[in-house]
Amino acid sequence: MRVQVAIIGSGPSGLLLGQLLHLAGIDAIILEQRSQEYVLGRIRAGVLEQCMVEMMERAQVAGRLHAEGLVHHGFEILFGGKRHRIDLHGLSGKDVWVYGQTEVTRDLMAARTAAGAKTVYEAENVSIHGFEGTKPLVRYTKDGKQHEVECDFIAGCDGFHGVCRPSVPPGAITEHERVYPFGWLGVLADVPPVSEELIYVSHERGFALCSMRSRTRSRYYIQCSLEDQVENWSDDAFWEELKRRLDPAGVARLVTGPSIEKSIAPLRSYVAEPMRFGRLLLAGDASHIVPPTGAKGLNLAASDVHYLSTALIEHYRTGRNTELDAYSGKCLRRIWQAERFSWWMTNLLHLFPENGSFGRKMQAAEFDYVLTSRAAATALAENYVGLPY
Ligand code: FAD
Ligand code: DHB
Repeated sequence: MRVQVAIIGSGPSGLLLGQLLHLAGIDAIILEQRSQEYVLGRIRAGVLEQCMVEMMERAQVAGRLHAEGLVHHGFEILFGGKRHRIDLHGLSGKDVWVYGQTEVTRDLMAARTAAGAKTVYEAENVSIHGFEGTKPLVRYTKDGKQHEVECDFIAGCDGFHGVCRPSVPPGAITEHERVYPFGWLGVLADVPPVSEELIYVSHERGFALCSMRSRTRSRYYIQCSLEDQVENWSDDAFWEELKRRLDPAGVARLVTGPSIEKSIAPLRSYVAEPMRFGRLLLAGDASHIVPPTGAKGLNLAASDVHYLSTALIEHYRTGRNTELDAYSGKCLRRIWQAERFSWWMTNLLHLFPENGSFGRKMQAAEFDYVLTSRAAATALAENYVGLPY
C-alpha cells in the first residue's frame, strides 16, 4: 500500500492530524495497536483550552462539543482551608471547556468513519524504516499477515510507550525528565459534581482535585503514594480520604456513589528533543509528558498537530518545506512553556514531605502572591487557558 502520510497511533494527536489532512485532501492511514473499543474506554483528560476548541472547529468536529461541553470561566483553589477563585475570563479574556478526551476521540473517530478514511486497529508489531532517507516504510502484522505501507512521511503519534521515539538512533535525541515521588488516584462516578467549577485542593494530607465530565458525571483525584495499588482502595476509602482534604462546605455538598473507573497515574515531566528526524515527525505524548496538574497534556498534543498539519499542508500545496523545517522549534517553544507551568502548579499544590516546613512556607508565600498580585494571578490564568499558538 502507498499513502502520503502514515500516522502511528489513534489517540487524540493521530486522529486530529488524520482529520485535518483529510480535509486538505492529503491521503493518510492510521495504524493503531489496540482495538477501537479499548481506545475509547481509556479515561484521561477533561479540560480543553480555547485554542484546542478552535482546532476542533477547524477539523469540523466541534458540533457535540458546543452542544454538550461545559464552558468554565474560572476555577477555585482551596489552600490552607480557604477557597479562592481564579477568574480566568476576567484575567485573561479566555475560557476553558470541560469535555472528556473520550468524547474528543469519539467525535474524531466518527468523522473518520464518515469520510471513509483508512484506519487499521489491532495492528501488531508496527515498525518504522527509512525515515532518514526519502522512502519511509512502515511494517505491521494484522491477523497474522505481514503488511507494508510506503509513504512520504511518518507521523509518530503513538504516545509515551510507542515505537516511533525508540526507533530514532540514540545519539540523535536528547531526553529531559523529572519523575515526581507520588501519583494521582482517580475516580469517575455518575454523581453530580461537588461544585459548578473545578476545585484544586492543597492540603496537609496531600493534593486533591474535584473535576467533572458533565453535570451528572464527576471526576475526582487524590495524591497517593507510588506504592499504592488501586485494588487496595475501596470506593469508601477513596471518598473518606477526599472528604478529609475538602472544606466543610465541600463535604456537605459532596455526593458519593459507586466508581465506574478507578486508576492510578504516576506524575512525570519529560521532553525528548528534537521532534523531527528526516521524514519522521513526533507529536503529542510520543515526544513529551507533563504532570496532569495544569491540564496541559491533551492540549499540547493539539498544538503539535496544529504545527504539523500546517507543515504538511504547505509541503503538498506549494512544495516548500519552511514549516517542516520550523516544526520542532515552534512546537518545543510552546511545550517548554507548558512544562514550566505544569511543573510550577504541581510544586505549588502537592505535598512534598521531603521539603519539610520550609517547602510548605514557600508554597504558602507563592500562593499568597498569586492572591495579592493581579500580575501573578494573570500569569496563572494566561497559562491555564493556554498560550497562543
Ligand atoms: P495517546 O493518547 O497516548 O495515544 C497514542 C496511541 O498510540 C494510543 O492509542 C496507543 O494505543 C497507540 N500506540 C502506542 N504504541 C503503538 C504502536 N507500537 N503501534 C501502534 N499504535 C501504538 N492529560 C490531561 O491534560 N489531563 C488528565 O487528566 C490526564 N490524565 C491522564 C491519565 C493517564 C493515565 C494518561 C496516560 C494520560 C493522561 N493525560 C492527561 C495526558 C493526555 O491524556 C495525553 O497527553 C494525550 O492522550 C496525548 O495524546 P496522544 O494522541 O499524543 O497520545
Ligand atoms: C482533569 C485533569 C486535570 O489534570 C486537570 O488539571 C483538570 C481536570 C480531569 O481529568 O477532569
